[in-house]
Amino acid sequence: FRGVIAVDGPSGSGKSSVCREVARTLGLRYLDTGAMYRAVTWAALDRGLDLTDQPAVAALSRALVLDVATDPASPRIAVDGVDVTAAIRQTRISENVSAIATNLDVRSDLIARQRALIEEKGAGIVAEGRDITTVVAPDADVRLLLTADENARIARRARELHGNDDAASLAATHAQIATRDARDSTVVDFLVAADGVVEIDTSPLTFEQVVAAVLRVVSE
Ligand code: ADP
Ligand code: CDP
Repeated sequence: FRGVIAVDGPSGSGKSSVCREVARTLGLRYLDTGAMYRAVTWAALDRGLDLTDQPAVAALSRALVLDVATDPASPRIAVDGVDVTAAIRQTRISENVSAIATNLDVRSDLIARQRALIEEKGAGIVAEGRDITTVVAPDADVRLLLTADENARIARRARELHGNDDAASLAATHAQIATRDARDSTVVDFLVAADGVVEIDTSPLTFEQVVAAVLRVVSE
């Protein structure tokens, strides 16, 4: 398989981890489009911009040199030469990224860059985000929506961020994820599968089972 696999889904549905593993297994490149929205957020905070100033944030986005590595073994991202791979996972970025993602001029800029990355080198790629199956690459060879019920997604995120899923961690994670998904879904629909998109409900599945399910769809 040497084509394009497009994957969307809400936070904690398993996109990043599953897509990286699928890309490794099939020898494809891997594109995490969420990292690009996070990188613009990092830059806007770094420059002290008012994130509600949409024209200023869009102008910044267009001026940034975003260096996105698509090797699934090391998916790094740099902004104007600064490696922000670790920094963009900070809570302050997760809390502010929706303000950037709901800026339609930023979206146009990043969507164009994502299409260029997908087409680069003509090699196959697994690209994941919120609007890949619908906007960025609606002609992809394989289009998937990963879903999971909210409790499963929150428990996964809590274990990832806090190392456990006790009541306090679940409550903190619930607030963050619910707010972000609600804001994000005002500009992109990643909760319902578009026409021709195969939905995989990952709630009852282990990570390995989800990877196997995706590989099965690709081989069909
Ligand atoms: P997304 O990119 O959709 O936000 P991630 O791939 O980051 O989701 O997954 C969130 C967390 O859940 C990660 O810690 C990941 O290892 C874990 N995870 C992924 N798939 C499953 C699964 N099927 N069951 C349990 N945990 C999972
Ligand atoms: O934390 P999680 O892995 O769920 O999020 P992410 O994939 O890193 O995406 C971070 C944020 O980027 C999302 O909350 C959206 O606001 C935005 N995003 C988007 O709008 N469109 C995409 N294709 C990908 C991400």
